[in-house]
Order: sequence, then structure tokens, then C-alpha cells
Amino acid sequence: MSVVVLVGSQWGDEGKGKIIDFLARNAQWIVRSQGGNNAGHTVYVGKDNFILHLVPSGIVSPGTRCIIGNGVVVDPEVLWEEITTLREKDVTVTPERLLISGCAHVIMPYHRLLDGLQEQARGRHSIGTTKRGIGPAYTDKVARSGVRVWDLIEPERLREKLARRLPEKNLIIEKVFQAKPLNEEEVFTRYNELGEKIRPFVVNTVPVLREAIERGDKILFEGAQGTLLDVDLGTYPFVTSSNTIAGGACTGAGVGPGRIREVVGVAKAYCTRVGSGPFPTELPEKEAEVIRNAGPVGEYGATTGRPRRCGWLDLTLLRYAVAVNGLTALAITRLDVLSELEQIQVSVGYRSNGTVEPYPPGNLELLGDCQPEYKTLPGWKKDISRISQFEQLPREAQDYIRLIERELGIPVAIISVGPERSQTIVLKKVFG
Ligand code: GDP
Ligand code: IMO
Ligand code: MG
Repeated sequence: MSVVVLVGSQWGDEGKGKIIDFLARNAQWIVRSQGGNNAGHTVYVGKDNFILHLVPSGIVSPGTRCIIGNGVVVDPEVLWEEITTLREKDVTVTPERLLISGCAHVIMPYHRLLDGLQEQARGRHSIGTTKRGIGPAYTDKVARSGVRVWDLIEPERLREKLARRLPEKNLIIEKVFQAKPLNEEEVFTRYNELGEKIRPFVVNTVPVLREAIERGDKILFEGAQGTLLDVDLGTYPFVTSSNTIAGGACTGAGVGPGRIREVVGVAKAYCTRVGSGPFPTELPEKEAEVIRNAGPVGEYGATTGRPRRCGWLDLTLLRYAVAVNGLTALAITRLDVLSELEQIQVSVGYRSNGTVEPYPPGNLELLGDCQPEYKTLPGWKKDISRISQFEQLPREAQDYIRLIERELGIPVAIISVGPERSQTIVLKKVFG
């Protein structure tokens, strides 16, 4: 059994794309099971730079096969554009290599429109969504009024679903938000066209995965977003609308929990967040800017281009991530970014009534009031971006990694010191 689930351990953008790409070379299958094109996963291959939003990042490794599972919300417009762009860059994207579950829900134009309108209406309480229609699409799924990929590829079903859904959506668009309603015929024509293009990729993915597991194929689940954006266990309401934690892989692809051998959490050597919501170790803008602009690729959103909020590593929240995901190992990324700093701070707990609590409060809405207890460590002030062995890292950098392991009680399996494949230090094999 070789099923590995990889998740983001913070607020997304931890460098999951880079680590997936690194591990994908040893895997046969890469599976997305939740989220949609709110994700932006960056992969560097030689001089080429890919930003994957919907297609699993493993697609750029020849020899892999990729699955978009039932738990993903698929914007067919974005999917088709992504397939086209990948093909232009000589990546083979065929129905043999990319399999899409018919049970995945479709992001319709009214979802995108409503995402923007709802955000506007929230005013100063806005979530800072990516405005890709994610929330409204998952809302319809749970309300049992969604359109699924099975419907998209059958003109009659698509017509019927649209005729039933659009009038209500248009009423909301017009009466609640005073915006322009959508034209049913135009939506049908465009989505029918997209359904035609996507049809060859659509299959029943459950038996495919089952057989792959039985054969002992190496399967890597590519998490999107991060633990603290999980709709159940994240910093609600400033979260996304899917289960981003490891359990999401089971519901989002139809795989039993007992099949999962290893859960790898990706975490930056510090912390970032895009969008609104509490962030206890956040740095004031002037200091955040130093981290944001250090290293070869700055901290700007891969999907929306927004500057990311930056702060120190928060081991209190990572301890929580270890718990809710059942993490068995960590991949620490962007360690090179800290190379310019004299000193590094790391939160080891939150102060509360004269003691230091190892876990965050149960109600993460109260996170904004938490006072991190910091340990201050010396920086290393050396370029580490070409180092390939742990023992060659400066002593201070080694101590930083060892502190993380000690505090969290799990091993660091991978350290990333740059965006490229070669800039990776392996401490422990992920696929046995
Ligand atoms: P993801 O959403 O988790 O896949 O992360 P993103 O791709 O949105 O953001 C991570 C950014 O960090 C990307 O620009 C990566 O190319 C880059 N990156 C990944 N690992 C490293 C690393 O170890 N060092 C540096 N400097 N950049 C990295
Ligand atoms: P990857 O996979 C970082 C954030 C948004 C917003 C909140 C809700 O690249 O790590 P949504 O559009 O999902 O309704 O927005 O979640 N968010 C992400 N932040 N990385 C992501 O994906 C994100 N996907 C959503 O900024 O705060
Ligand atoms: Mg990202």
C-alpha cells in the first residue's frame, strides 16, 4: 500500500506544488480531491515555470497519471484553458493521463458572479475570497442543487439542470444584488461546448483508484489550500468551503482512511496568509516586507497576485495541524528565505493566564486575541540555496529544523531551499 496524502499545514501557498512535483517522479498517480481553481500551485522545471490551478501538479512529470476527484469543484472554462496552456508547453494531456470524476461539481457562471457580489456585500467583513465561485459552488453541492460533471457532458441533462437552477439564481442576482441576470441560452451554449471538450476525460474514477491501490501503485494526493482554511477545523469564517485536511482526500476521491500510509504536511519555515482573518504571528508591514521580498520568488499570490501577509513560524498552529491531519512527517519549504535575517522568532505556544498553552483555543475565531510566546534563535546569514545535504546546512539552520521536530514530535522528511527540483534536501524517504 503506497498512498501518501500531502496537505498544506498553514493557510495555503506553503509550496505544495514544488513538493508534489519533487515526489511525483516516484509516483504513478497524483490526485486532487478538494478545492478548485482558487488553488495556485507553482512548479519549476528547468527554465519553465508552471502555475497549476486545477490539473494536478504531477502532470508535468512524464509517466504519471492524474485524477481530478469527486470532491473538486471544476470550472470547465479554466480547466480547458489550463489543458490548452499545458499542451502549448509540450506537456502531454490526454484522457489517458488526466481522468476527471463525473461526480465533481461544476462552477457555473452564476457561482463566479455571486462570489464577487457576496464579497462586496460583506463590506469590511469580507473573507477576501479568490472570487472564483468556490463558495457558491460548494453551497449548491450541499444544498443538493449543484450541476455535476456528469450533467455538463450530457446536453439534455445540462439543459434541464440549467432550466431548473438559473431562474432562482437570476432572481437573487437581480433582486438581492441589483446586478444583471444571466441569459440561459448563452450559458447553455457555452457550457455545452465546454462539456463536449471535456467529455473524453470524464470517467468513473472509483474503480480506477481501487485497482491502482490493489496493484500497489504509488498514489500521491495533492492537497489544495491549507489546514487553517478548512471549512470545519480552520479559522472559520475566514476559510475556504472544502475540507482541506487529510480526511478530505477520503471523501473527495472515494478512498478509505485505512488505505492511507503517510500524511505529509507542507509548511513554510515562516508563515503567510492571503485574504482576511486572524494571524497571531503576523509581522508589521515594514518587517513583513523584508520576508515578502527575500529570496528568488516573492510572496505574491499565484492565483490573484495579491501580496501575502507574512509572519513568524507558529508551532502552536502547526501542532494543531499535526493533530487534525494525523501528520506523519513534514516538508519545510522556503528555508532559504530566512537566510538574510539576523534573528528568527518562532512561536512555541500562546500565553494564557500566566501559562503557555501548547494548542490554540477551540474557537479559532478567538485567535486574534492570542499572544504568541516566542523563542528567539540566531540566523545563519549564509546562502543555503545550493545545499543538498542536511549536514552541510549551517548549524543554526540545523538547530531550527531540530527544534521544529522536537516541538511537534514528528520528523522533517524534506527541506526545500529554493523553487527548483534540485534545491531539495531529503532526510527521510516518503514513498518507501
Ligand atoms: P502552493 O500553493 O502551496 O503550491 O504554493 P505556491 O506555489 O502558491 O507558493 C509557493 C511559492 O514558493 C512558489 O512561488 C514556489 O515556486 C516557491 N517555492 C517553493 N519552495 C520554495 C523554496 O524552498 N524556496 C523558495 N525561495 N521558493 C520556494
Ligand atoms: P493553494 O492551493 C492561499 C483563501 C483566500 C481566502 C479564503 C477563501 O494555492 O494553497 P475561496 O476563494 O477559497 O472562497 O477563498 O481562502 N485561499 C487560499 N489562500 N492559498 C490557496 O490555495 C487558497 N485558496 C483559497 O485567499 O482568504
Ligand atoms: Mg498557492
